[in-house]
Amino acid sequence: SIIVPSVQEMVKEKMITTVPPRYVQSDQEKSGVTSDSGLIPEIPIIDMKRLCSPTSVDSDSELVNHGIDASFMDKTKLEIQDFFNLPMEEKKKFWQQPDEMEGFGQAFVMSEDQKLDWSDMFFFIVQPAQLRKPHLFPKLPLPFRFCMHTNVLTFSTISQNYLCLHFLMFFRDTLEMYSAQVKSIAKILIAKMGEALQIKPEEIEKIFGDDMFQSMRMNYYPPCPEPHQVIGVTPHSDAAALTILLQVNDVEGLQIKKDGKWVFVKPLPNAFIVNVGDVLEIITNGIYKSIEHRVVVNSEKERLSFATFHNPGLNKEISPAKSLVENQKKCAKFKSLMTKDYLKGLFSRELYGKAYLDALR
Ligand code: SIN
Ligand code: FE2
Repeated sequence: SIIVPSVQEMVKEKMITTVPPRYVQSDQEKSGVTSDSGLIPEIPIIDMKRLCSPTSVDSDSELVNHGIDASFMDKTKLEIQDFFNLPMEEKKKFWQQPDEMEGFGQAFVMSEDQKLDWSDMFFFIVQPAQLRKPHLFPKLPLPFRFCMHTNVLTFSTISQNYLCLHFLMFFRDTLEMYSAQVKSIAKILIAKMGEALQIKPEEIEKIFGDDMFQSMRMNYYPPCPEPHQVIGVTPHSDAAALTILLQVNDVEGLQIKKDGKWVFVKPLPNAFIVNVGDVLEIITNGIYKSIEHRVVVNSEKERLSFATFHNPGLNKEISPAKSLVENQKKCAKFKSLMTKDYLKGLFSRELYGKAYLDALR
């Protein structure tokens, strides 16, 4: 991936009134960026409390009663905002290196003349822990609010009480807790989805067992002087089994492609958005379809979101579930390949729509 500048910095420093050419989308891409169809899709709501009875789950859903404490979710959201608001000198330590995917930057940029998204992203691997890049996740600092306090107060003015544990929790600790909780939710959902299709539970357990591959991406979309010229995130489906998405602030922007039209997703308070990704489409032999989505930006407000991706372990085989194919007396619709080869292929091309999944048919 090619290293790209920070859109957040560009907007902040240059006070720009027009969009630089590298971000101006072709007419075809722009079509529909502004035309809100007015439709609000009926997005299925998964109530975790009721999930114990067998239900079917649709490809894009909102998740409520998930058991993650609301105040912890608020804390996570604030700390993500703080992270993007760190001074540039701090953020530089986390910037992508040439040919790396992780860190601040954009993914899937393969050439200098490729159109760029109107966003800064921070991508990193969480699980398995031995794959964490030593200069990224393990170095995530104290929340900015705390750094500011320590800058203005001398140590003697800080009372014992003030230095309570809550303040000494590093951003990485928050993310560690968050990732573990979200992972257990993803596992339950995947198990339930497999059950609904009568895939053998042992088979799901074998694919997603204890070595699940989990990665995260924080997205920051600055306001844009010409929002109709750009796109926050190019249309794509997620290269994951299941994505659990947290809308970090209250600004709309995520759209899903429903019956050929782009429609906004309005997040419910304290709910997650759950996306079925390409890997689950493969495992379910095309029964659960991955959802194509994109992000549009606006001229006034920044937008932030936080995606957690769940995949089988790197040495697991991704293929249509054998018990499903046998039960339904169907042919496997997708080739099988190892997760590590799947991800290698993914990161060596531009991400566009469902093209990568289609190449695996
Ligand atoms: C993404 O799909 O990559 C981002 C989703 C969002 O910002 O809501
Ligand atoms: Fe996505």
